[in-house]
Amino acid sequence: MCRWYLIPRVLRNVSTVDLSVSVLGRTLSMPLCVAATAMQRMAHPAGETATARACKAAGTGMMLSSWATSSIEEVMSAMTAVQGVGGVLWMQLYIYKDRELTLSLVRRAEDAGYAAIFVTVDTPFLGKRLDDVRNRFRIMSNFSTASLAFSEDSYGEDSGLAVYVANAIDPTISWEDITWLKKNTRLPVIVKGILNAEDAVCALNYGADGILVSNHGARQLDGVPATLDVLEEVVQAVQGRCDVYMDGGVRRGTDVLKALALGAKAVFMGRPVLWALACQGEGGVTELLELLKEELKLAMALSGCRSLSEVTRSLVRRADFSSRM
Ligand SMILES: Cc1cc2nc3c(=O)[nH]c(=O)nc-3n(C[C@H](O)[C@H](O)[C@H](O)COP(=O)(O)O)c2cc1C
Repeated sequence: MCRWYLIPRVLRNVSTVDLSVSVLGRTLSMPLCVAATAMQRMAHPAGETATARACKAAGTGMMLSSWATSSIEEVMSAMTAVQGVGGVLWMQLYIYKDRELTLSLVRRAEDAGYAAIFVTVDTPFLGKRLDDVRNRFRIMSNFSTASLAFSEDSYGEDSGLAVYVANAIDPTISWEDITWLKKNTRLPVIVKGILNAEDAVCALNYGADGILVSNHGARQLDGVPATLDVLEEVVQAVQGRCDVYMDGGVRRGTDVLKALALGAKAVFMGRPVLWALACQGEGGVTELLELLKEELKLAMALSGCRSLSEVTRSLVRRADFSSRM
């Protein structure tokens, strides 16, 4: 196990701190964005539309799940209806056995004004989620996702989502499919789910425009490392040829700061957004994003950083803890 310490600099006049960052050609108010999480209407009746409005108000980006319970177009309308500048939507994509269906999602995202495609590559099958199996997780029929029709599969004893993935998602996908996707969209393609240098180099070689270091919130393969612990390996492998992003376990402003110091351009947050949404809908997500923005600002000031360009590798130090058993 390892932890990362922050090693602050002092006496640097931190009276103003600028959190703004350019991500995929858009200026965001902070380097913290919302990760794709499926079926947000299970958390709150307003679901993804509430999250999109909160992201616009915070001036940050939202990645919409392929398995959203609000349509691609509906979520864009919700975001654009909020006054103000900033706010951007990106589309998360699973590659389906049905390639026409896959491309229809891409076309709809392009037409609606989404700014990039995040293609998830760590889910050829769904990981074994024992709670979902025990609870007999079912995709409720009145909950069919807005962008895709969920068929009434025969679930047996298994998790409904696992059965759906086995039926619909293409387990044959390979690096050539990244090139295929690139050829079929004018949007930048970011590969979501990279955990090592070798795959980072493959992503670049097959045409990816960016890399999201992610272990799917540790919900796919049991035993994988924390994303923060492999981030630097990926950053070093790409040698500045594309931006690297990270998600997984981001809960505080200091978590964001550590990832930035290890080379992430921006980070994404999944579960806390669902918790905020479940508690208070749009207002909850707005409050969460404001809280994290303030935490990051304070953490930067206390570290002696006035802008993101001053967040460098020397800000973090690795502390290894060997087993004390
Ligand atoms: C309930 C839930 C649903 C998710 N749905 C998707 C999804 O539809 N597509 C996807 O690529 N990742 C999905 N993820 C993974 C997230 O995009 C992200 O990688 C992860 O949640 C980050 O970790 P965090 O929750 O600790 O912030 C989901 C995660 C959760 C917890």
